[in-house]
Amino acid sequence: MLNETTDIQNPLSGGMSEGLSYPSARFSIAPMLDWTDRHCRYFHRILSKNALLYTEMVTTGAIIHGKGDFLQFNEEEHPVSLQLGGSNPVDLATCAKLAVERGYDEINLNVGCPSDRVQNGRFGACLMGEAELVAQCVSAMKDVVDIPVTVKTRIGIDDQDSYEFLVDFVRTVNEKSGCDNFTIHARKAWLSGLSPKENREIPPLDYPRVYQLKKDFPHLTMAINGGIKSLEEAEEHLKFMDGVMIGREAYQSPYMLAEVDNRLFGGNAPIIKRSDAVKAMFPYIEEQLSNGSYLNHISRHMLGMFQNMPGARQWRRYISENAHKPGSGIEVLEAALAKIPAELDV
Ligand SMILES: Cc1cc2nc3c(=O)[nH]c(=O)nc-3n(C[C@H](O)[C@H](O)[C@H](O)COP(=O)(O)O)c2cc1C
Repeated sequence: MLNETTDIQNPLSGGMSEGLSYPSARFSIAPMLDWTDRHCRYFHRILSKNALLYTEMVTTGAIIHGKGDFLQFNEEEHPVSLQLGGSNPVDLATCAKLAVERGYDEINLNVGCPSDRVQNGRFGACLMGEAELVAQCVSAMKDVVDIPVTVKTRIGIDDQDSYEFLVDFVRTVNEKSGCDNFTIHARKAWLSGLSPKENREIPPLDYPRVYQLKKDFPHLTMAINGGIKSLEEAEEHLKFMDGVMIGREAYQSPYMLAEVDNRLFGGNAPIIKRSDAVKAMFPYIEEQLSNGSYLNHISRHMLGMFQNMPGARQWRRYISENAHKPGSGIEVLEAALAKIPAELDV
């Protein structure tokens, strides 16, 4: 559980530590559909012991009516937050209870996804226009669980993009539900006309607006998200915010995560080498393969391991050409590792 994972040395000297409800909120890896599945999260956990990991968004409909186990995760992933998509307070409360039974450390409500599919279900970013409903949803969950219930949102939607609109949203949700932990993606979403991908690129980032929000709600824990590409940038944001969430860059260049514990959580352990992080996956991969998983379902999350290094292309290509073949196992990764010149494996 989150409050017990405090093998962290004085992580919060300086910065905005007062607002933190728990330490891992200082750095998280964003929820990303199709990307941050349980294999991905296991891999990221090898690189950082402290980062808070988010699941992909899971809809209440999938959990309640779907076939299959949408709540599966590995014990090693803690601290891990389940991101829910939904807007029916009763269904959300049902899912929140199930999440606690399964051992999740946090529940996060998605108020940021702009896809059409999600809007048809009346959840995701369009909920920014329904602060009262969001408050009811959070309240319903908080009533039945005792882990943090948090909200991930944008700075606005469509023409509702004034600072006052954002303040109203946060104030209403906070005052009416007691939610005290928000992650703000520092751009607005257009609910029609842009694809989800474009909605992550075209609306401009507005970090000062998010800093201002934290200033105006000093008692709330607030993390900033959107376009953050390095730990240097993360450190800069932490001068103004309680937490930083990184999505695409962490996925595409996962080795950046190897320094998170030392730089952002005050650790001083030796930084794991890239090849050692890959090898640390082998026992997990073998176990998963023996349970019927396929190598490429796991190795696809590791393709960025040597990003921006000579050998990166050979690494990616060898895995892409071989991991999908029937019966593929860790020998594919061993052979791909052999393509990286030893002096570059640092
Ligand atoms: C492939 C992909 C899938 C995403 N899926 C979700 C999701 O399920 N829930 C969510 O709240 N945000 C989702 N996002 C948005 C990210 O969580 C994050 O807010 C966004 O990418 C901006 O952060 P970044 O610039 O660090 O990537 C997704 C982003 C990507 C790239």
